[in-house]
Amino acid sequence: MTTTRHTLLVLAHPRSDSLTAQVAARVRARLDEAGHTVDVLDLYAEGFDPALRPDDEPDWEDREKVYSPVVLDHMDRMLMADDIVVVFPVWWFSVPAILKGWIDRVWNYGFAYGRSRPRLAGKRLLWLGLMGGTEEEIRHMGMETLLDTTLRVGLSAVCGIPDATVHVLYGTELSAVSSGLRPARVAAVLADAERALAAKLAETPGGVLAR
Ligand SMILES: Cc1cc2nc3c(=O)[nH]c(=O)nc-3n(C[C@H](O)[C@H](O)[C@H](O)COP(=O)(O)O)c2cc1C
Repeated sequence: MTTTRHTLLVLAHPRSDSLTAQVAARVRARLDEAGHTVDVLDLYAEGFDPALRPDDEPDWEDREKVYSPVVLDHMDRMLMADDIVVVFPVWWFSVPAILKGWIDRVWNYGFAYGRSRPRLAGKRLLWLGLMGGTEEEIRHMGMETLLDTTLRVGLSAVCGIPDATVHVLYGTELSAVSSGLRPARVAAVLADAERALAAKLAETPGGVLAR
């Protein structure tokens, strides 16, 4: 028996013609082909407010705290998903503020962490980060390690998904590429994203905590 899997595809870029948006569109197309249902969460298009205010501040003495309606809705969207794919540009060695705010507000205490069995355990999770620099430049500065530590070790593993993947797409700053070579660069970036997605989808669903 085959069961349809459901993916939450998160996009964090202000421009719909960005390379980041193109990567997300390619991911969407491949998920459609694989027979997944997809919930596209375009943080800018939905006007997500990244500022954490008192309503969504964790209460360390109450893990049952009821957060704001917006955050509860986002939590539901996460819970509905079997798989989560997040596509974002790397800005100053990190994620864009709108994505950081989504994490701060939605990956919250009593939901994403603070329970003996985290609610997100068992989901497959792929972070796809577009970096402007080439692989040599990035490795030299340790940017890739920093991002991996933040998103995989510091966030995903703490929230019950230790086998999350942080995959970097290099050389995405097209202004540094001569115009004649840009189509090939775009194709290479999209192909790299497809490979990372295929590798994630080939993993046994369940995650190490659920097995
Ligand atoms: C505010 C800002 C900060 C950036 N910081 C970095 C960075 O730290 N490392 C890097 O490799 N690229 C950095 N970039 C470049 C972007 O990652 C790159 O331009 C982008 O992925 C290109 O694709 P896009 O068309 O989707 O924006 C930065 C870009 C902006 C706008």
